[in-house]
Amino acid sequence: MEPPVDDPQSKPAPRAAHVIVLGNEKGGSGKSTTAMHIIVALLKAGRRVASIDTDSRQGSLTRYIDNRKRWMRKSGVVLDVPEHFSVPLGDGQIVSDIEHREYNALARAIDEISATFDFVVVDTPAANSYLMKLSHSIADTLVTPLNDSFIDFDVLGRLDPDTLEVVETSHYAALVTDARHYRHTVDGVRPNWVVVRNRLSTLASRNQRDVIHGLRNLAEVLGFRLADGISERVIFRELFLLGLTVFDSLDRKTLGRAPSISHLAARREVRELIESLDLPGAAPRPAGTAGGADVSAIAAAPLVGAE
Ligand SMILES: Nc1ncnc2c1ncn2[C@@H]1O[C@H](COP(=O)(O)OP(=O)(O)OP(=O)(O)O)[C@@H](O)[C@H]1O
Ligand SMILES: [Mg+2]
Repeated sequence: MEPPVDDPQSKPAPRAAHVIVLGNEKGGSGKSTTAMHIIVALLKAGRRVASIDTDSRQGSLTRYIDNRKRWMRKSGVVLDVPEHFSVPLGDGQIVSDIEHREYNALARAIDEISATFDFVVVDTPAANSYLMKLSHSIADTLVTPLNDSFIDFDVLGRLDPDTLEVVETSHYAALVTDARHYRHTVDGVRPNWVVVRNRLSTLASRNQRDVIHGLRNLAEVLGFRLADGISERVIFRELFLLGLTVFDSLDRKTLGRAPSISHLAARREVRELIESLDLPGAAPRPAGTAGGADVSAIAAAPLVGAE
């Protein structure tokens, strides 16, 4: 990554994309589904959006986008599609070589898109890997979807079962804390961290109340914001094969049935999540200022928390 050439007389200041990372070390919490919804919502709002899949082994986001392109060809409907990159896992025998290749691949992708897009949405694997940690350290906004269960809660912190007070914080919380601290040390950016409960039951329960209570306590300790949750809805699972989201127009032809009130509720919930992220406006922002992750500066020093 070359440092930007400062010649304000000859050309406008380059823009630096705001990087939104979806992360949670717990698998199946909704990272890829939420990533796709954020991408499409931002595209529909007229923002220039690129996406990066750093979970190339699973490749759910990449396939989601491929499915969208296929549906577009098949249906003839024009859809908003992001400029997409998949970062391959580095191969080799020596760990430092593998990490070097992974770093280069991510830096190349960011290099290509940072100046021409408003947002980069990065989906990450659940596995604690170099690429996963590197992705966390370039986040301007980190979104952590969390299933509404104490088993999923455990990657963030442990609670006293009687008082629901935080007894200790856990491994994923430590990884995020290190990544945020590291980012602040390198370029002064304090990334936002937003936790969103996902797959909520529509029936209120004591478990739900206790999880919220515990998360509020944990939010104070770890410094994240808690967004309103997203309910468990079949529509989120159905749309993957078509590459669609609740923000696309869903009619009888696409769904095989008329859209229901549940689709509208799903759309409202995801829209409220995106509003709660407090993302920056479309105003041009010089590269290197808050909102533009410089991967080379961030990765030049060893990653805090790396084993
Ligand atoms: N709100 C929801 N309602 C119903 N199903 C959901 C919801 N959110 C996610 N799912 C489903 O849960 C499963 C896991 O979602 P997803 O793949 O997005 O999670 P992930 O965190 O990316 O998983 P991984 O850690 O394996 O990458 C998928 O089957 C998805 O369709
Ligand atoms: Mg995923």
